[in-house]
Amino acid sequence: MSVKVELSRRSDFPLLENQPELVYLDSAATSLKPRSVLEAERSYYEECCANIHRGLYRMSEEATRRYEEARHSVARLIGASDPDCCIWTSGTTDAINLVAYTWGEQNILPGDPIVLTGLEHHSNLVPWQNLATRQQARLRWIEPRPDGTLELDNLDELLEGARLVAFTWVSNVFGSISPVQEICRRARAAGATVLLDAAQGVPHLPCAVEEMGCDFMAFSGHKMLGPTGTGMLWSRRELLEAMPPFRFGGDMIREVWRDRCTFNELPFKFEAGTPNIAGVLGMGAAADYLLDVGMANVRAHELDLLTYARECLGSLEGFELLGPPLDQHSGALSFVYRGIHPHDLATLLDRENICIRAGHHCCQPLMRRIGMSGTARASLSLYNIRADIDRLAVALEKASQVFKGVLF
Ligand code: ALA
Repeated sequence: MSVKVELSRRSDFPLLENQPELVYLDSAATSLKPRSVLEAERSYYEECCANIHRGLYRMSEEATRRYEEARHSVARLIGASDPDCCIWTSGTTDAINLVAYTWGEQNILPGDPIVLTGLEHHSNLVPWQNLATRQQARLRWIEPRPDGTLELDNLDELLEGARLVAFTWVSNVFGSISPVQEICRRARAAGATVLLDAAQGVPHLPCAVEEMGCDFMAFSGHKMLGPTGTGMLWSRRELLEAMPPFRFGGDMIREVWRDRCTFNELPFKFEAGTPNIAGVLGMGAAADYLLDVGMANVRAHELDLLTYARECLGSLEGFELLGPPLDQHSGALSFVYRGIHPHDLATLLDRENICIRAGHHCCQPLMRRIGMSGTARASLSLYNIRADIDRLAVALEKASQVFKGVLF
């Protein structure tokens, strides 16, 4: 499967064609974009640059058609049967804030426990921290083990009285895959509502959102080959119907009087103002692209690369992988190497045309928990190949020469 992806798909990414020497290993931060995504954005501006849901002329109707078709594409990618339950947002952060300010303010009461995990990205922590302050609620923590897997032995205790459980599908630091169905099942049995941060899951793993057991799922376009400034919130119809709007303005209303208004139906109730139309078309094209490759193939290719990377990098002296067993691993490989500061490593690798991320990865509480200021992180996508890992291994050894005599 890796051969199919390697041979036929790399040429779909103009950036890799323009910079053939580049090794891009930072897809957990943002992914590269295939030609079809760029084309979807370009053709909107060149062929039907009109506002949506408003015009009575054909060009506006065409823009609206493409916009709603994109919603259907992303719904198909995540296995959502009702596209009206798929709300466009500017990204995962925006989607989570939408839930915190609407469902959260209605449903989280003083003293209520909100359960998070110690793996969470700031974007799935700070909105809840802030909500907890506003509502005088309390945060409880599912603790991560040193390899990024979650300690679930005390989960039932943590869930007692919990109103909300918000957790990540895949850790952006460790690449560890959370046992989503188990957590959702136990959380919902305890009466809690569940939000899944799927920013690092949707780009890598087959998704059947209605079978996973969550009530809300948030994810970004730019990590799944789509444009920046795009994302989605999925939820169940009855929850979305019961929630008040988050933003107020055009498109989200049905009728307005001087002193009051009525709100539009789903999904428009949550989509005030002129949206990022070109971006949404790009995100739809990204979903079509992933559907065409097939998410099972994406996962198979990634597993091949992860297996290779774990062997190849693991054989370097002084390399320590921070991560779960292979079958629970996806996307990101965090590591430490010979005591070299992650920032120094990233800078030295950049000299070899290799892009990785280094630092706390927007997970400062997690870094404190594991007693580190940061890690080096190489993260994968379907356009990576084994040769990228080979280049990383050689560059790491070269970097170690720079520090010889200083650190070891
Ligand atoms: N959440 C992104 C990352 O992990 C930015 O790099």
